[in-house]
Amino acid sequence: MKRILTGLKPTGDLTLGNYIGAIKQMVSMQNKYDSYLFVADLHALTVKQDSEELKMRIRKFIAMYIACGIDPEKNTIYIQSENEYIPAMSYLLECTTTYGEASRMIQFKEKSKENANFSVGLLTYPILMAADILYCDADYVPVGIDQKQHVELARNIAERFNNRYGKTFTLPEPILNETGTKIYDLKVPTKKMSKTEENPVGVISLFDTLEDITKKIMRSTTDSIGIIKYDIENQPGISNLLTIASSLTNKSIKDLEREFEGKGYGEFKKYVALVVTEEVSKIQDKYSKIINSKELDEILDKGIEKSRKLAKEKEKIMKEKMGTIR
Ligand code: TYM
Repeated sequence: MKRILTGLKPTGDLTLGNYIGAIKQMVSMQNKYDSYLFVADLHALTVKQDSEELKMRIRKFIAMYIACGIDPEKNTIYIQSENEYIPAMSYLLECTTTYGEASRMIQFKEKSKENANFSVGLLTYPILMAADILYCDADYVPVGIDQKQHVELARNIAERFNNRYGKTFTLPEPILNETGTKIYDLKVPTKKMSKTEENPVGVISLFDTLEDITKKIMRSTTDSIGIIKYDIENQPGISNLLTIASSLTNKSIKDLEREFEGKGYGEFKKYVALVVTEEVSKIQDKYSKIINSKELDEILDKGIEKSRKLAKEKEKIMKEKMGTIR
């Protein structure tokens, strides 16, 4: 059975973008693949975090995964930092990655520009991500488009390691959702919807009240063209709403365009708000039932045991091949 894996970093509450770009893909694939899903808390540390908040958010992420439809019977669910072999492997992989490669990552270039005092962790971030993926020989990595380059780097690092030391890793491939590879901010629809956005009027959090979600969608930025058509260049706001609606229903963008032909933006926005609130409401109901359950710890204990076992074996193989073993 082929293996899929993905992780999300707890730097803010999960958004509709995370749900559509990553979690929903995992849910739709979990019956056919051996599935691994984790909270990338070490990745969150590359920027300053409030430790109490981070601790709470990690647990909320796990509960949210399950509330979103991730089946604990079909997934290995764990917290990245509980697997000490992953950062150890990351160091070994750093030594097979060039500084040039790491510094060419788009996310590194953007984030290092935003803050001159960026951490070294921001540079090595994609190599830690490579360790996350390679330790368990994941075949496929469902992600949004912003993480595609990082998965490709993981593949390049794996290939180089295999060439240098003999076959050690499976070469992973990113998997992108057909429509929702990038959900944009509702207010600034040329910018990614992000959980760390300071002004959340354009961001739908999975914890937002249904009233707030409706308000945000009804007030989202559109244009003066007046036609409901997917045209990312000239109508980014409407295109984004079409992407959201298409990702959450089984309707194609073309079908939605036909359905709303000749109708106004207000009517279309009401429809999108209904689709989103219905989905989020189901997720929130399930979330409130499990957030305080003991079951979460049992799931995490089981998940980390399996994950550590695999990573321990892989790290040993790497060290043997690299010559750092007695
Ligand atoms: P993170 O936490 O930024 O995002 C988690 C996942 O959500 C996707 N995503 C989006 N998709 C569509 N539209 C959006 N607006 C949007 N925003 C985020 C991301 O593409 C991602 O798939 N480095 C990773 C976490 C990570 C990881 C890994 C992922 C660590 N190790 C190994 C895969 C495999 C990150 O920060 O994702």
